[in-house]
Amino acid sequence: MDVIKHLEWRYATKKFDKTNKLSASKLMVLKEAFNLTATSFGLQTINMLVVESADLRKLLLPHTYNQPQIVDASHLLVICIKETIEDDDVNDYFDNIKDVRNTSETILNPYRQNLIKTMKKMTQKEQQQWSLNQAYIALGNLMTVCAIEQIDSCPMEGFVPEKYDEVLNLKEKGLKSVLLLPVGYRAKDDMFADFKKVRKKVKETVFEL
Ligand SMILES: Cc1cc2nc3c(=O)[nH]c(=O)nc-3n(C[C@H](O)[C@H](O)[C@H](O)COP(=O)(O)O)c2cc1C
Repeated sequence: MDVIKHLEWRYATKKFDKTNKLSASKLMVLKEAFNLTATSFGLQTINMLVVESADLRKLLLPHTYNQPQIVDASHLLVICIKETIEDDDVNDYFDNIKDVRNTSETILNPYRQNLIKTMKKMTQKEQQQWSLNQAYIALGNLMTVCAIEQIDSCPMEGFVPEKYDEVLNLKEKGLKSVLLLPVGYRAKDDMFADFKKVRKKVKETVFEL
């Protein structure tokens, strides 16, 4: 299949096959894809929770406007952002560069100090909005990877993040939930699978100058 065929194959899955679970290797592809997502400066102020527990997902259902995808899918991916970006986040990042690329502190230090300053200038709200932008990139990346891997998924904003944070104890991890992606395999009788894609014409969304 070429990539456009894969993207036409994917759709926001409404009914998952409860009995069809993702293999550990497929799940690993999604974890790696999330981690490989490009982020601004490379700072990675986002995290992903893989929720398999049926009990936890049952608790989350009423906080998802009872959308059944989150319980029927093989796994529920919850994309989170850091509540605040600390000096340590920036320091850990530059320490990692130092380890991986063997770059000297003399070269890195001006960039390190500059990024610490940039992060400090932002309010907590601005930091969260900035991280949220990265979270959407991760969502798009995961959706495309799912399509290529023939994994079904449903991007979701329709949930109550504060309730998710409570149920999943995210505050103690310094995280806030922002987006969901249930993943698994479509049920044979999901009527949405046969619906034609509704999109504008390419010439209406893409302009060539
Ligand atoms: C950011 C985002 C949030 C969405 N939230 C929900 C949701 O809460 N529940 C749902 O069933 N679909 C949700 N959708 C799915 C969209 O309705 C769907 O992607 C769109 O109608 C295009 O259809 P397609 O993905 O099947 O091609 C969301 C999609 C995006 C990109």
